[in-house]
Amino acid sequence: MSGRRPLVAANWKMNGSLESMGGLVDTISQGVSKETKAEVLICPPYVYIQELGRAIEKTEIQLGAQNVSHMDSGAFTGEVAPAMLKDFACDYVIVGHSERRTLYGENDLRVAEKFVAVQANGMIPILCIGELLEEREANTTEEVIARQLDAVIDLAGIQAFKQAVIAYEPVWAIGTGVTATPEQAQEVHEFIRLRLARHDHETAEGVRILYGGSVKADNAKQLFELADIDGGLIGGASLVAEDFLTICHSVR
Ligand code: PGA
Repeated sequence: MSGRRPLVAANWKMNGSLESMGGLVDTISQGVSKETKAEVLICPPYVYIQELGRAIEKTEIQLGAQNVSHMDSGAFTGEVAPAMLKDFACDYVIVGHSERRTLYGENDLRVAEKFVAVQANGMIPILCIGELLEEREANTTEEVIARQLDAVIDLAGIQAFKQAVIAYEPVWAIGTGVTATPEQAQEVHEFIRLRLARHDHETAEGVRILYGGSVKADNAKQLFELADIDGGLIGGASLVAEDFLTICHSVR
């Protein structure tokens, strides 16, 4: 087996309040210790990053953002630069989440630029990739995944994946309650790893590939047991502290 340490990441999206997130963080941090097998990460909305970052300073929990600008600075109203996230001690940044791709028009190149910008500022990108329902039904899942992945390999180079995480999130499984079956998930995870291995075997073996899309307390374990699944990116279930902790403790 590889030495990949599983990662369980909470994507809180545009939910909660300062008060509710504070409560969540309190409970989660009580349940996460040095003995926890998985690395545990929270990705709050931008405005709460500073406050929650302080709250987890002395815990084992890592801090991440849900999005970032691809630019360093300048006249980009409403955007947040990578260096700003680094200023507030972010370790990770999610790039290319399907909601960013579909609702905010981020294309493969823009996502790749964000990936590069995150690394250039000393943080780890979590690159989200995944197919739409119609793409799966048209049997083009692998084609879509390859295209999304290749855009980043082309711009960043294969070695960049030594400092990156990939999240496979079938779009039809996000927030729908329909989880990919363990077989469906493992099949795509293996495909992703093989695609990277064409360029560099060692990098492919080392990169953590998370599954996301309706991961819940009662299905996490069977997903996390699979050979190429190295943890999860959790939306809805990460807003309930007990459920999220159960998921964190479900890693092999
Ligand atoms: P979900 O979201 O767990 O609510 O399906 C996952 C995600 O969007 O990262």
